[in-house]
Amino acid sequence: MTSNMFKRLIWQSDRMLLDDLVFRLEHYRNNDWDGGEHFRFYKIKKLVDQYEAFFSRLPDWHPSHMLELGIFDGGSTVFWHELFQPHKLVAVDIKERTDSPYFRQYLESRGVAGKIKTIWNVNQADKDRLHHVVAEEMNGRLDMVIDDASHFYEPTKASFEVLFPLCKPGALYIIEDWAWDHWAEFSAADHPWAEKTRLTQLVTELVEAVGTSTDFISNMTVFEGFAVIERGPKRIDAKNFVLEDHIVRRPARRKSFRLAPIRRALMQPIVRLVKFLRKFRT
Ligand SMILES: C[S@@+](CC[C@H](N)C(=O)[O-])C[C@H]1O[C@@H](n2cnc3c(N)ncnc32)[C@H](O)[C@@H]1O
Repeated sequence: MTSNMFKRLIWQSDRMLLDDLVFRLEHYRNNDWDGGEHFRFYKIKKLVDQYEAFFSRLPDWHPSHMLELGIFDGGSTVFWHELFQPHKLVAVDIKERTDSPYFRQYLESRGVAGKIKTIWNVNQADKDRLHHVVAEEMNGRLDMVIDDASHFYEPTKASFEVLFPLCKPGALYIIEDWAWDHWAEFSAADHPWAEKTRLTQLVTELVEAVGTSTDFISNMTVFEGFAVIERGPKRIDAKNFVLEDHIVRRPARRKSFRLAPIRRALMQPIVRLVKFLRKFRT
């Protein structure tokens, strides 16, 4: 089902089209726009191709309750809704704004206002708020989370720590753009994110958690553009969950102090001196 939707996408230099819907590509924004009303869309074809590759492995994937972190202009919210047709899709964003007219028009023309809910002014680091959103808007049920919000380590981890325990077994938790620390456009010393902890750290911790037990994270798939974490069967209390408690590492060992090179370096002049003195004795 999902593969059919990917086939319907038409890519042009500055836009992606899906039937009568227009998604303006933010990465290729230009001043001579002639595409009329549109969603602004913060994804590129390469990323969407990776999603197509991933979901082609799951042709029957049909999440009932989805949560998206990071709405921006609603383009991705509509994209996910068209792709999966979930029973309920809730999307949150830290910005204090409202839905665009084009987004509202989409909800009305499709008659899906009751199925898609955007909630603005929600910080993904606010664990209580996210817990409340899932309880109130989704009956406590979560089959899929897509985090495309801050891309910073601390808030992304905070969301994961509260939402992943709420996911049902088999649910998918996606962290988008985790690899920014490895991309050239982020490498300048004066880049605004230069001092930020890279999101790679969280992905590494999640790999450690998979290695510790598959009861909690049953598996993980990592693409350049996103990481997919699959929920294992273990029940976990979302209110008190700390990822670090689910990672086992070997006890740190004291680094053995290697004396041999030091001893060799100290002894060399003495050995040379002895050899030199021996010459005079003979
Ligand atoms: C990259 S944009 C999302 C793009 C959108 N998903 C798309 O593909 O078109 C990131 C969004 O996350 C929001 N955001 C940033 N930090 C956030 C936070 N701490 N909590 C919630 N949303 C946040 C921003 O306001 C922005 O709208």
